[in-house]
Amino acid sequence: MVHWWSMLIKRTDPLRVAVLASGRGSNLQAVIDAIEAGTVQAKIVAVISNKKNSPALERACRHGLAGFFVDPKLHAGKPDSRESYDRELLSVLREHDVELVLLAGYMKIVTTVLVDAFVNRMMNIHPSLLPSFPGLDVQRKAIDWGCKLAGCTVHFVTEGVDEGPIILQAAVPILDDDSADSLAARILVQEHKIYPRAVQLFAEGRLRVEGRRVFIEQGKPAGEAVISPS
Ligand code: GAR
Repeated sequence: MVHWWSMLIKRTDPLRVAVLASGRGSNLQAVIDAIEAGTVQAKIVAVISNKKNSPALERACRHGLAGFFVDPKLHAGKPDSRESYDRELLSVLREHDVELVLLAGYMKIVTTVLVDAFVNRMMNIHPSLLPSFPGLDVQRKAIDWGCKLAGCTVHFVTEGVDEGPIILQAAVPILDDDSADSLAARILVQEHKIYPRAVQLFAEGRLRVEGRRVFIEQGKPAGEAVISPS
């Protein structure tokens, strides 16, 4: 089956985006900056965090965006605590007519409550070249494995963690003297490029999902191979 997940006719109103973030929020900032610079035609209508004092919420505040702390403690102890939490998130997303959800350093596994409500309308950014190294501490794992290339992936969110159809990837070399931190910093520079780019492709209606594959209408080929060491 072929799905078009954003409008084929040119839209006049900006895409309504929500960002879910737990921590530092640098990817949120990259999307905010791209919107403010006019390279992404979208409007962030809600920034939501599971951490009360997250820098992501401070960034939202600084840019005059609506920020929401949704407290996991209010759902703890319930037999379906994770789903219950996501139902509260979903009500915030619906109240704001959200069309696209971005997970940006959102360190909570989303349940089917959200996944089913935003099929191919929820993206995640992950600091590895998926399907290698899903999960945590992935820069360290790529170095320890002896990889010569690492990178980042923007993908649609499905039920499996870091598993959904891949939209964009960027690769960087792993250097002999890399620490997990130095590699993470090199990858992060690319994250800040490809996440806003993926949002803009969605806003332009250029992402077509067929099974596991995401095709980009009028996309350009990547060009030369990336070889490391060169
Ligand atoms: C980013 O590196 C992002 O790729 C990663 O968390 C960091 C958040 O940074 N996400 C994951 O590992 C998800 N599996 P940020 O808060 O500065 O955007």
